[in-house]
Amino acid sequence: MANESYDIAVIGAGPGGYIAALHAAKLGFKTVCIDKRETLGGTCLNVGCIPSKALLQSSEHYEFLEKQAKEHGIEVKGLSHNFKQMMQRKEEVVSGLVNGIEGLFTRGKVTWLKGEAKFSSPNEIDVNGEKITAKNIIIATGSEPIELPFLPFDEKKVISSTGALSLPKLPKKMIVVGAGVIGVELASVYNRLGSEVTIVEMLDHICPAMDHAISKNLFNVLKKQGLTFHLSTKVTEAKGQKLTIQEGSNTQSLEGDVILVAVGRRPYTKGLDLDAVGITTTPQGFIEVDNNFRTAHPHIYAIGDAIDGVMLAHRASDEGMVVVDLIAGQHPSINPLTIPNVIYTHPEVAALGLTETEAKTMGLELCIGTSQFKANARARCAGDTEGLVKVIGEKKSNRLIGMHIIGPHASEMIGEGVIAMESGMTLKELAYSSHAHPTLSETIKEAALNAI
Ligand code: FAD
Ligand code: NAI
Repeated sequence: MANESYDIAVIGAGPGGYIAALHAAKLGFKTVCIDKRETLGGTCLNVGCIPSKALLQSSEHYEFLEKQAKEHGIEVKGLSHNFKQMMQRKEEVVSGLVNGIEGLFTRGKVTWLKGEAKFSSPNEIDVNGEKITAKNIIIATGSEPIELPFLPFDEKKVISSTGALSLPKLPKKMIVVGAGVIGVELASVYNRLGSEVTIVEMLDHICPAMDHAISKNLFNVLKKQGLTFHLSTKVTEAKGQKLTIQEGSNTQSLEGDVILVAVGRRPYTKGLDLDAVGITTTPQGFIEVDNNFRTAHPHIYAIGDAIDGVMLAHRASDEGMVVVDLIAGQHPSINPLTIPNVIYTHPEVAALGLTETEAKTMGLELCIGTSQFKANARARCAGDTEGLVKVIGEKKSNRLIGMHIIGPHASEMIGEGVIAMESGMTLKELAYSSHAHPTLSETIKEAALNAI
């Protein structure tokens, strides 16, 4: 491949990069995708969305059999779980999907280069000492977990999400620092399987990006499920796996077999040598881009976790599509307000558009409606009645500007909100749309009816 030239070079084969590369090749561009990992799929497929959701699903099945099956008249004797098999299955799910992308690359004629990419000039990239040139370059190098200075990762006892997705055995006691998305998802997995899990969060509420009513509801549910929380609490010192925590004026120590640090992720641009080509980053390390994802060089774009915005796989992929369409001379657009955000706990949490607090801060007059799953027939049949739907509309126009769900299958239900918001629907139109009975989605209709 040495000294080969391409129409488009994509750096990073995560959901941003691989989708961009496949789309580019489909449009007829000669495309190369470079990744330093052994497998395609980036964080999402290898150590993120997919392995975490596989473990969440397995542990949820176990929890159902352990705690809810009896109510449905299903009695299981001698129930136990096989942690090794659960991990093995997770590996198989991951390898099936990453191999799938490899197949798509081969069939789609995307060249895959394994190695670390580094800029040698604005049109030239060095990969393991070999040079390639490209007319357009898309940087999709993703993000990495943030490390606390006094709790460096060894991925055995002090672990990031990556370590937590591959533990060799079930820990007796796990301490999780940070009650954000990773914290509550992975704490749920281990809590369901029988670990004693304690979460330390510096703020006075969990999952700060979510609407406050929803995060409060999630907090209460997770506490009922057996998780222990220390809110408004700082870790002030760590000796091995022994932490000193400060909650107001109280100081105490906590010890776990493993400490999962999940205090956020930061953009990953190490090794690219961005300075050498004059590409600038924000103080937080995000690559600076304009509204069309262009860096200081109009032919070099950046997308996904490497630029500022919510760190989500589907956002990275959507941006990858948009950038390739821009290169192809089209005029695509992307609306950051209609990117759904899901937490895969049980019940699930899904958010779209503005939260109530954000909308109020913007000075908007609102009409808000809620509906509880305990009043929903399908949720009752399933025995899954925890949670609610909250819809937020702007009063004058009656347009839907936010939807927040905590409840069964919230991740699937939020799709209705995305379509409604994308098409500029009013709450009245949403409320008067027919919803099959009995379905969980009737809760959305009810919330909209309550709002109007
Ligand atoms: P990445 O997926 O991070 O891919 C970047 C790739 O670039 C990597 O493979 C890396 O090896 C490569 N790379 C970096 N530098 C170079 C270089 N110089 N040369 C060559 N290659 C390079 N999001 C969701 O939407 N839903 C979820 O359920 C979800 N769950 C998650 C669970 C966990 C535990 C974690 C950690 C994240 C989760 N996310 C989830 C977030 C999601 O994984 C990221 O938002 C997404 O992967 C970002 O995609 P990306 O393409 O920007 O970067
Ligand atoms: P996060 O930003 O969601 O949460 C971090 C939490 O840690 C916050 O509540 C914060 O207040 C807390 N915190 C920060 N410093 C702390 C400290 N020193 N002590 C105690 N608490 C502290 O970050 P997280 O959970 O690491 O996830 C990173 C990103 O990955 C997410 O923002 C999300 O974009 C993505 N992700 C998405 C998932 C999904 O879509 N289901 C699943 C997992 C990750």
